[in-house]
Amino acid sequence: MKKIFGVVGYPINHTLSPAIHNYLFGQFKMEAVYLAFEVPPAQYEHFFKGMACINNLVGLNVTVPFKNEAAQYTDRIIFKKKDVFGAVPVNTVHFKNKISFGFNTDIYGFYMGLLKSCPSFRPKRKIALLIGAGGAAKGVGISLVSAGIKCLVIANRTYKKAVDLKSFLEKISRLTEIKAIPLSGDILSSQGPFDLIINSTSHGLKKERSLINFNVRGIRSGIAYDLIYKPKTDFLIQAEKNGWETVNGLDMLIFQAFKAFQIWTGKNPIKYYTDIKKILLKMM
Ligand code: ATR
Repeated sequence: MKKIFGVVGYPINHTLSPAIHNYLFGQFKMEAVYLAFEVPPAQYEHFFKGMACINNLVGLNVTVPFKNEAAQYTDRIIFKKKDVFGAVPVNTVHFKNKISFGFNTDIYGFYMGLLKSCPSFRPKRKIALLIGAGGAAKGVGISLVSAGIKCLVIANRTYKKAVDLKSFLEKISRLTEIKAIPLSGDILSSQGPFDLIINSTSHGLKKERSLINFNVRGIRSGIAYDLIYKPKTDFLIQAEKNGWETVNGLDMLIFQAFKAFQIWTGKNPIKYYTDIKKILLKMM
C-alpha cells in the first residue's frame, strides 16, 4: 500500500514541500506520496485526530498557523531538553506503531541554512540580533543558544513576547547572554554592532520596508538572514546595499525537509541537495 505523507497549513497553496519530498520518493524508488492539506484553523483538531487513524499515514509536516498547536496532539515530543519540550513548536510528526512522535526540524534547518551560505561562521564569540518572538523565532533562538552563541538580543514589536522568549531560552542554555528589547528601526545604531541579524517575522512577505535601518555609519557589517525566501525582502536588499552578507530561507526549507525525510524513512537525502535547489528555484 502506498505510504502517505503531507503538510498541513492554512493557507497552503504556495508550499514547496511536496516538490521536495515527491522528488526524493522518486529517487529512492519508494511507493509514497506527499500531499498538501489545507485545513481551516477551526477544523484542525478534527483533522489531527482523524489523521492518527490512517494506517498508511507515516509523516506530517505542520506549518503556519499550527506549529504551536501540534504539540498537544502528539503523543511524544522528541527534544533533548526534557523540561522544556512541551513548549517546543512541532513542525514534523512521525506516526509509528499507532504512536505519534513530534519533532522540530526547523531548528536544524535554520542552522544548516546559515552554514551553507556562511561555512566559516563560528557562534562562540558572536552577537546575534533576533527580530521577532513568535513560533519561528523560538526555533531560531533554540538553534542559536544550542550552538553556543555568545549573546542573543531579541527585539520584538510586542516587548512582553520578547521577554517570554528570553525566559524560555534561558532554560535551554546558560552559556548565552540573552537580552530582550522593544523593536525599533534604529536598533543597529543604538545597540550594534551585531555579527548576525535574523528577521523571523512575516514582515517583508508583502515587500514592506525593512523593520530596521542598515544605513548606519561606522558600524561593521555581518550576516543578515531572512527566513522568508520569496520575495527577496527589503530587509535583505538594504542589508546587501550596506555591505552585509545575506541569507534567505530557501536552504532552511530544504534542510528542515531533509531532516524530516530522514526521521520518516531512515534515508539520508543530502546527495540530492543540488537537484532539489534547482527544481525549487525554477518553481519560485
Ligand atoms: P510565526 O510562527 O511565523 O513566527 P507568529 O507566532 O504569529 O508567527 O509571530 C509573528 C512574529 O512577527 C511576531 O514576533 C510579531 O510581532 P508581535 O509579537 O508584536 O505581534 C512579528 N510581526 C508580524 N508583523 C509585524 C510587523 N508588521 N512589524 C513588526 N513585527 C511584526
